[in-house]
Amino acid sequence: MTKKSDRLDRLHAMRAEAEQGGGAERVKAQHDKGKLTARERLDLLLDPGSFVELDRFVTHRSTDFGLGEQKILGDGVVTGFGRVNGRTVYVFSQDFTVFGGSLAEAHAEKICKVMDMAVRNGAPIVGLNDSGGARIQEGVVSLGGYADIFLRNTMASGVVPQISAILGPCAGGAVYSPAITDFVYMVRGVSYMFVTGPSVVKTVTHEDVTPEQLGGADVHGSVSGVAQFVCDSEAECLRGVRDLLGFLPSNNLDDPPARRSTDPSDRREEDLLTIVPENPNKPYDMHEVIRRVVDDGDLLEVHRDFGPNLIVGFARMAGYPVGIVANQPSVLAGVLDIKASQKGARFIRFCDAFNIPLITFEDVPGFLPGLDQEHGGIIKHGAKLLYAYAEATVPKLTVITRKAYGGAYDVMSSRHVRGDFNVAWPTAEIAVMGPKGAAEILFKRDIAKAKDPEEKLEELVNDYRDKFANPYLAAARGFVDDVIDPRDTRPLLITTLQTLLTKRDTNPKKKHGNIPL
Ligand code: HXC
Repeated sequence: MTKKSDRLDRLHAMRAEAEQGGGAERVKAQHDKGKLTARERLDLLLDPGSFVELDRFVTHRSTDFGLGEQKILGDGVVTGFGRVNGRTVYVFSQDFTVFGGSLAEAHAEKICKVMDMAVRNGAPIVGLNDSGGARIQEGVVSLGGYADIFLRNTMASGVVPQISAILGPCAGGAVYSPAITDFVYMVRGVSYMFVTGPSVVKTVTHEDVTPEQLGGADVHGSVSGVAQFVCDSEAECLRGVRDLLGFLPSNNLDDPPARRSTDPSDRREEDLLTIVPENPNKPYDMHEVIRRVVDDGDLLEVHRDFGPNLIVGFARMAGYPVGIVANQPSVLAGVLDIKASQKGARFIRFCDAFNIPLITFEDVPGFLPGLDQEHGGIIKHGAKLLYAYAEATVPKLTVITRKAYGGAYDVMSSRHVRGDFNVAWPTAEIAVMGPKGAAEILFKRDIAKAKDPEEKLEELVNDYRDKFANPYLAAARGFVDDVIDPRDTRPLLITTLQTLLTKRDTNPKKKHGNIPL
């Protein structure tokens, strides 16, 4: 009969074995590549001592290609739950030291289990991805495993926040799980995402590309927009995930986590009087406005390098999390283009799904003209932004700092699309188009007939500006609720936000809308 102490020894030995992953040599190879192990990553992500592991004794059930002799406890993924700043999160962390972190039947079942628990218990799920993709030896069951995860990602979307950190290769169909999640983090020199790798690209299109050029962190952070966050190290990435979670509710039925703020709610900012230049064609940095309005000047910017003519990110007002959406006059004059529209729409939908109020700072000359944009589908992409604002039922507050022209006026959280509180600074210009464009169209003949057409144009532009390029026509209609002293922006937004926290608004009952994708 086995003694009790022997049984305990066996347990400890097996637990220790599971923690070794693919063994010392492969762990060393992982470190030599400048990468952390699956468990080291969880240590950085979670509050110390909070991790509860599940399924550490799971192994695969395959026998083909010699797999029968290679059973490694845990099957290449560490799963469980823990805490981030005291709040529960569910996690999985792929272990590249075991079969290259490749995903197969048992590995996928472990991930599905924590995803199901996350949804059932209403807590975020964070996936740390580092995998060679489908486990080649297991064939179609690996593909089935991926599909099981994709389905869960889709069902969990809008129910619990889903965050993916890519900390190694992520190729083939494997990219689609992170792509469905709400936020993707990548690390320069460590993370790669592509549907087909450089060698397939070479065969099919004859292009020579490095993995970095094809699907490195900077490419996805600024060109494709697949990654919302790009970091310089794994430690920075995992710290970033912790910070982001601090703004998010645990699920769609919870309010976002408010905390005490030491930044006075009645803080007036003199500088807000001078940030917008006298000359309406001169750029300024909208970050300067945001910093002066939100608590402690802190903005967690999302998609910083993708479509930088629009700024989106999380901040707090009197300790309450808010989503900021702002045109950026210092990049392309703050115009709305395809990237900015996609970026804004996805962010707004996330905030709306998770009860995070939206504050919009508006200075937008319109949608970007041109062949590229029209052929690229600015019509349907711009419509996404409009649709996202229109369907959002969270509190929506808007400050027009300068230009609100044309269709962009309607789109950017206007009263007409259920904005709750829309105010303008005295510098606001709310009109169908800019004074120059308007004068050129309206007075084409007068300008052509004039002795000095340029002088005439200037005169007509000034007339138009005096008459239309101000906030008072919109205020006269109640399209903006007030024209405010810019210094009062923070106190006023906070007071109003507090009254809007009880807002209840709904959309008509339907299976789902049909956002122009
Ligand atoms: C089984 C794998 C594996 C895989 C890597 N390994 N990928 N085992 N299935 N998909 C194993 C290797 O055999 C090796 O085992 C160990 O992991 C480490 O791999 P290395 O190649 O030594 O590492 P490295 O040089 O860093 O290269 C990493 C890599 C490369 C770029 C990921 O391993 C690679 O190209 N792997 C294949 C990628 C791939 O084609 N996957 C299928 C994609 S299709 P040993 O025992 O030697 O340490 C796909 C479809 C998903 O995923 C569809 C979902 C719908």
